[in-house]
Order: sequence, then C-alpha cells, then structure tokens
Amino acid sequence: MKTNVTCWGILGALDQEVMLLREQMQVESTEKVLGTEFLSGTIDGHKVVVACCGIGKVNAAACATYLLFVKGCDAIVNVGIAGGVAHGLHTLDVVISRELCFHDQDAVMLKYFPARQFFDGDLALRQLCAQVCSQPGMLVGSWREGRIATGDKFVADSATRDAIIAAVAPDCVEMEGAAIAHVAYAAGKPCLVIRTMSDCADDDATTTYDNFLERAANQSARIVLAMLRHAD
Ligand code: ADE
Repeated sequence: MKTNVTCWGILGALDQEVMLLREQMQVESTEKVLGTEFLSGTIDGHKVVVACCGIGKVNAAACATYLLFVKGCDAIVNVGIAGGVAHGLHTLDVVISRELCFHDQDAVMLKYFPARQFFDGDLALRQLCAQVCSQPGMLVGSWREGRIATGDKFVADSATRDAIIAAVAPDCVEMEGAAIAHVAYAAGKPCLVIRTMSDCADDDATTTYDNFLERAANQSARIVLAMLRHAD
C-alpha cells in the first residue's frame, strides 16, 4: 500500500513497547540524545528510526521533534498500550487513532494560538493499519478506529476515568499519543498512534496492567512490523 513515507520514526514509551521492533531491525547507528537512545537502520528494507522516549507528554514531544527535525523522519508511528474506556473495549483489543486529544488540557489553552483540541490520524497510515489489523489471525482481540486521549496521568480509578469520559469521550487513555500528534501536526507530517489495551483504566487497572503489559505491547509492535511489510 502507498504511503510516501521515506523514513519512519517509531516511538514507544516503554522498553516493552519497542522491544520486538528493535529485535527485527537491522541497526546501522545508535546515538543517545535527550537521555534517549535513537536506533537508525532498516526494517524490511524501510528506513526507520526507533526510540523508547519514556513516559509522558514532554518526553514524547521532545523525541518526536528530534525525529522530525533532526533525523529527517517524514512520518511518526507511536506504538504501545493504553487503558480502554469505551463501551465494549477489552484488554488486548486495539485502538487506531482516528483522532487524538488531551484530557488534561485547560479550556483556556484553546483561546490562544496555536489552539487545537483534536489531531487527526493520517488517513493513508490508518488505511494501511486497518488492512493489517483485518488480516485473519493478526490480533487476539478486536480493533477499531477511535479517539485517543492523552494526559500526564496513569488512570487507575473509576472516578477519574468517568470524569475523562464526561470531558472528552475517548475510546482509550494513554500518556504520549496526542503530544506526538501535536508535534507532527505542527511540522505538517503524518502521524498514527496504535494502542493495544493493557487495562480498562478502572479500579483494577494496576493489576490488569501488570498482567497484560507484555502481550499488549507485543501485539502493537507486531502491527507496526506488519505495516512495514505491506508498505510500498
Ligand atoms: N497506558 C496503559 N494503561 C493506561 C492507563 N490506565 N492510564 C494511562 N496510560 C495508560
């Protein structure tokens, strides 16, 4: 499938989220910047730069900026796990970013330039990801395109979860996606966020997260690997 991407920037927040990608990569060079290791090389013949950016909006935005403005990446895929909050979303289900927003953004920020509440997932990348997720046997759970809400908070109680649902009605919550999409939007570059549910952001989230982290992270990474196999 055609994407026009010549160098893919791939970011995960945790080691587990980029582990399979690192394993499958032919690494040509490594550098440590911003406290983060950036691996440059190829996967399936595609030029890629892979990094584990750390948790949270600032780490994510800093590394996204570096990928786009210094490393010459012309698209960013953010890969990893999330807490599912939409009805019918279970652990190991997948959400692809139709759009992203912040759940901890004060409304006053939207009054000032450059104000923007929602960031779109790139259409060509969404189509490629949807094609991959639709393949029989690809996923343990189901997949959907949806709204991903980002904030500097691990959501692990039902009261916080319900307040976020009331505020921005997301399908899932995580801690980096919208920050990366915001940088990509400012740079005029395509971005896609792919998240497998590790928990449901409820009172059981901490335990569920521990049990599902590895499987959820690996599934998201496998989706990106399959996207690269199917990309032009
Ligand atoms: N990533 C995975 N689960 C999460 C949660 N419950 N809250 C925020 N980020 C997450």
